Amino acid sequence: MSVPDPAAQVSKRRNKVRAAVTRPQNLIRGRFARPRLPEVESFTASLPFDRRLYRQDIRGSIAHARMLARVGIISGAEAKRIETGLRSIEREIESGRFAFDLADEDIHLAIERRLSAKIGAAARKLHSARSRNDQVALDLRLYLCDEIEAIVGLIGALSGALLSVARRHVETVMPGYTHLQRAQPVSLAHHVLAYAEMLARDRERFSQALERARVMPLGAGALAATTLPIDRRAVARELGFSRLCENSMDAVADRDFVLDFLAAAATLAVHLSRMSEEIVLWSGAEFGFIELPDEFSTGSSMMPQKKNPDLAELIRGKSGRIIGDLVAMLTVLKGLPLAYNSDLQEDKERVFDAVDTLKPAVSLMAKLWPRLHFQTGAMRRAAGGFALATDLAEYLVKRGVEFRRAHEIVAAIVREAAAKGRSLEELTLSDLRRYSEAFGPEAQGLLDPANSLRNRRVIGGPAPATVRRRLARLVRE
Ligand code: ARG
Repeated sequence: MSVPDPAAQVSKRRNKVRAAVTRPQNLIRGRFARPRLPEVESFTASLPFDRRLYRQDIRGSIAHARMLARVGIISGAEAKRIETGLRSIEREIESGRFAFDLADEDIHLAIERRLSAKIGAAARKLHSARSRNDQVALDLRLYLCDEIEAIVGLIGALSGALLSVARRHVETVMPGYTHLQRAQPVSLAHHVLAYAEMLARDRERFSQALERARVMPLGAGALAATTLPIDRRAVARELGFSRLCENSMDAVADRDFVLDFLAAAATLAVHLSRMSEEIVLWSGAEFGFIELPDEFSTGSSMMPQKKNPDLAELIRGKSGRIIGDLVAMLTVLKGLPLAYNSDLQEDKERVFDAVDTLKPAVSLMAKLWPRLHFQTGAMRRAAGGFALATDLAEYLVKRGVEFRRAHEIVAAIVREAAAKGRSLEELTLSDLRRYSEAFGPEAQGLLDPANSLRNRRVIGGPAPATVRRRLARLVRE
């Protein structure tokens, strides 16, 4: 579906409005003798961005109108006319035929004004027992529910991509790092599944955010509900909400459901950023662990040899925007008195920006992982050497040496091997026995990273059998 560029449309309309001698007033300026200054109008309008909520706004209005008819505030025929009018407005917006006018301030008044022009009197009853304050809270909640479900789906695809990489690399040995120094051998599968665990929690966080967004605010009115005999439960049922906001002031004043969403989004963005950082590192010659696919790489305008990981860099970089969206929203809320304040209008652009940044980042990551060419030889080579030192120390513990003593013995082995430019893998049994009598014939087998991996079988460890078991579970979830 294509919606025309809001900025272009709105500014065209604004020019027309400015030239007019008598400015069209919007639906709610009855008490004013003079129109707003054009600069005030454009500074305060949310229409250029909240028009994106038109579908939710129309859905909410239809549910509201049906309820008004059910309780006798409007007639059944009026509700029908409202519904038909709103559906045709939806088609107008979708096909780009709807003329947006900044004088309307926001999507709510824009649609209501158009409805009045189309169906007359019945439209003027639609806003009974409703304020834009509860209306906008409803629209944003409906919008977020849809987007969160879409994001949860994308996380599923990314985690599927990671699982398929992991499946192929349960035995692919690579160094694990602490402080970005080679630490102990792990497998590529174990490394990648660490991210799959993070994503599983991301999914949980979004599902919780969804539960908190799925609460129905309509009926709160401006802040203190209404004297009209509305049926909030009927509206909730119709819109698929299982719970109602239980305090009318809370319903219009808070945006903690937005914070929940943005916090989940920022956390996921940080996970994507860390993944990206490793893709950048691994694709550099210093690591040489991956070759980037051409379809995901960029060249340099000056250096002909370059193959740059721009996609990963930008996913890393864009996490800053989403963190910014969360911080901006927290800052908007922190000093606000109850109940509704116009500051809250700032919520929508933060949400839209986070959604628009996050969705393509997750889906591109899901496409990138299966296309990375892993240089398993380079990984295996990097995993040897001193990364096996801890295994040697633990071997000595099994032979009855206390751990601190074992640590000292192996530290001495490492120190002297390093001084001679030898790696641990090159040491013979008799070399080892010069440091401790506790080294038996099996000790030499420990100097192989693949064995090292197999020996770390505890729950959560990198042994292939353990990783396969966890992998199977993650696939089922
Ligand atoms: N455009 C407003 C917003 O986005 C809608 C609610 C306006 N309410 C008001 N009393 N000005 O929050």
